[in-house]
Amino acid sequence: SLESYHVSEELGFILQDPLVELPPYYQPWMDIALRVPELVHSHELRFHINKMPRLSSQFLQKHRELRLAHLALSVMTMGYNWQEGENNTVQMLPRNLAVPYWEVSQRLGLPPILTHADAVLANWRKKDPEGNLELLFSLPGGDSTQGFFLVTLLVELAAVPALKNIPTVINGVRCGDTETVARALEDISQSIQDMTDKLKLMHVYVEPSVFYGIMRIYLSGWKDNPCMPKGLVYEGVQAEPMEYSGGSAAQSSLLQCFDELLGVQHEATSGAFLSRMRNYMPPAHKLLIQDISLQPSLKSFVQQQASERLNQALQHCVTKLLALRNYHINVVSCFITVPAARARQLRQPRTLRNHSQVLEGEMISRAPIALEERGTGGSSIMTFLKTVRDQTKDTLLPET
Ligand code: ALA
Repeated sequence: SLESYHVSEELGFILQDPLVELPPYYQPWMDIALRVPELVHSHELRFHINKMPRLSSQFLQKHRELRLAHLALSVMTMGYNWQEGENNTVQMLPRNLAVPYWEVSQRLGLPPILTHADAVLANWRKKDPEGNLELLFSLPGGDSTQGFFLVTLLVELAAVPALKNIPTVINGVRCGDTETVARALEDISQSIQDMTDKLKLMHVYVEPSVFYGIMRIYLSGWKDNPCMPKGLVYEGVQAEPMEYSGGSAAQSSLLQCFDELLGVQHEATSGAFLSRMRNYMPPAHKLLIQDISLQPSLKSFVQQQASERLNQALQHCVTKLLALRNYHINVVSCFITVPAARARQLRQPRTLRNHSQVLEGEMISRAPIALEERGTGGSSIMTFLKTVRDQTKDTLLPET
């Protein structure tokens, strides 16, 4: 069942009822973590973290306590490293942050860096009885940051019906039940369509110049990042620097589950990135993806059954997944490719600009050069997304 993979019937991979408070002993962490955007803005975050008391992680017990602690320590770490931009990063994370962060990460099986499991899956609460959501912790970027994480959360939520139907498909294949499999695939298609519709809200809630110029650096990591070629030393953990990738949609378990179910095969480079990103997911979620991959092939089942409805249902699912990936490419071109081109243009000798272009230009020009072609996860973002999209297209059965 899905519960054994820490996947809930209502919320899928989203953490249910995230705690909003740690035991009082950890108040020094919370006091700083909740103020990260403001302390980065005033250039005081490093100062506050440097004089933070060194707390033991041993009073954290329940899974949700550990998740909240990981989220708080992650937000502090991103702010600490990137406070002064890409040219003034640190070489070392101080031990009062690094040691408990490392311990909490080990216990959760997550890397000591901000992941999708932190910033999206564990970073929400209901702010009113109507069920409107808000973030627990934010990073610089104001409403756009809130929008980026919450829209991503809505995409996760839209996928819940699809997730619930995965066991139905697998069992149906095992019992040779064509109708059940077809119906479950039809539900999955609808749910993937809903994910795409939710993704469209990025254009409503996130401002491209803020995303590109302000936010992205705080999501980026210290692996495959030219401005931190050696990685980061976690003081008191290990003397040598360690490399960890920044946040990436590839850390969401959703698409990787669908790929394994539908038999999307990845080419070497993108496949390697996707499998490495599984180590940035909660271990139970990674296990679900692996277990789906071990099931008898859905595609061969569909080919053997020679049912028109079943055939159509599978085709439709792959088509919807393809459309989601195409839409994702569209979002990335709007939020990364177009602003990146603008940033290059702005480095040319000055041309006349009006007031709003100047403001937008100031924001865009602050973007790290290292992230012009790369995703915050370190991939060559457009090449990666287009390769994965093309591999999805190749999964479509030949027309009969
Ligand atoms: N991975 C996304 C980016 O590159 C967040 O900006």
